[in-house]
This record gives sequence, structure tokens and C-alpha cells, in this order.
Amino acid sequence: MTRAQDPRVNPSILAADFVNMQAELERISTADFVHVDVMDNHFVPNLTFGPQMVERIQATSPVPLDVHLMISDADRWAPGYAEIGAASVTFHWEATSNPVELARKIRDIGARAGVAIKPGTAAEPLFDLLDEFDQVLVMTVEPGFGGQGFMPETMPKLRALYDAARRQGSDVWLQVDGGISDRTIEQAAAAGADTFVAGSAVYGSDNVEAAITRLRELARTASLDR
Ligand code: DX5
Ligand code: ZN
Repeated sequence: MTRAQDPRVNPSILAADFVNMQAELERISTADFVHVDVMDNHFVPNLTFGPQMVERIQATSPVPLDVHLMISDADRWAPGYAEIGAASVTFHWEATSNPVELARKIRDIGARAGVAIKPGTAAEPLFDLLDEFDQVLVMTVEPGFGGQGFMPETMPKLRALYDAARRQGSDVWLQVDGGISDRTIEQAAAAGADTFVAGSAVYGSDNVEAAITRLRELARTASLDR
């Protein structure tokens, strides 16, 4: 199995100061990706920004973009984010009727294709589709807001995805998002995650670079692939 050895830490700019976006992006230049949360006030009860803002982030960011679409009608909007140049575009399983077709479209444009599942959504339907995706995002909070508590009850599902990926020799990345901090990241790494989104734990820190390094270290030590 060719899973990447080093855990990835993707700070979420949902926790950044939107008015100082350029400076906020510079602060995380040692991160692996910047996690960009797009919300439509329909799929989730919160609203952030759309393609125009993401295009500016793409033009400004020192690290590649990991776009997380918390929007309805993903089929209509997701390919546009790949066209902007985002390295990775993740849509919700619950927001499309044809996840495989949409992932293929995103890949054809040249981005990595991700699929996200909410805490209450089963992982089993994905087991036979892992080859169609570059990343599976297991939400560890209900999507919509930063600063919520990590839900440990999502860990068995993550572990089941990890085991399915290992059985198949799949190199799909397993991402967690929500409540990831130095108190929770080891649990997630020990359940099979290799890609970690952290909003408040990074941007809420006085030393953002040290926070990223520490999260990566904790994840590496606890990782199943060590
Ligand atoms: C929540 C978003 C997350 C959020 C995480 O719906 O998808 O990416 O920014 O924030 P923290 O790390 O503060 O839980
Ligand atoms: Zn997110």
C-alpha cells in the first residue's frame, strides 16, 4: 500500500480574519494545504464565500488549496473550483446524486477529487468506490461551524474506511475535519486518518507555525502507518 508516510496538516481559514486574508494565508506557509470551507446557507446553516473569493485565495496562497464544499447541488458548482486551480475539491456525498461521475469530472479537470460524509452518514457505500476518489473526508463534527467539539463516535467509521483501503491497496487519503487539536489528533491518527484539518487549533494559537508542527508530530507518532 502506498499511503503517504507523512501526515498532512491543513489549517482551515474559516478561523482566520477574513479582512486580512493575504496575511492570514502567509501565516500558514508551512502547512501542507489551506482548507477552504465553502458554505451556502442551504446544505449547512452558515454562509462563507463562493468562487470569486476562492479564485483570489488561489492567486494569493503560498500552499495548495483543499476546497471543502458544504453546498447543495454539488454537481453544478464543484467542477468550477477545479477550474479555478484548486489542488483538491471535496464535495459532500449527501449533496449529489452521482458522486462517481462528479469525481471523474473533477479529476478530468486536473484536481484531486474528495468526497465527504457527515457524522450520521454510513461509510460502507464508499468501500467499493475508493478508487474513484483521492480523498475521503470523515466529518468529526456536524458541518457548518468552526470551534465545535470532536465527535469520537465517528472513529469506528474512519477505521473501517482505513481497513477497506488497506485491503484494496488503495492510496486514498483519509481526512478528518472538526475539533482537531493537540488533544484529539492522536485518536484520529490512530483510527487511520492521514490528513488533518484544524481551524481554531491553528489560528487560535499565538505561534501558528509551532502549532502546525506540533499537530504533525503528534499525528506522526500516533499514525497507523508509522
Ligand atoms: C466545519 C468546517 C471545518 C472547520 C473546522 O464545518 O468544515 O473545516 O473550519 O474548524 P475547527 O478546527 O475549529 O473545528
Ligand atoms: Zn471543512
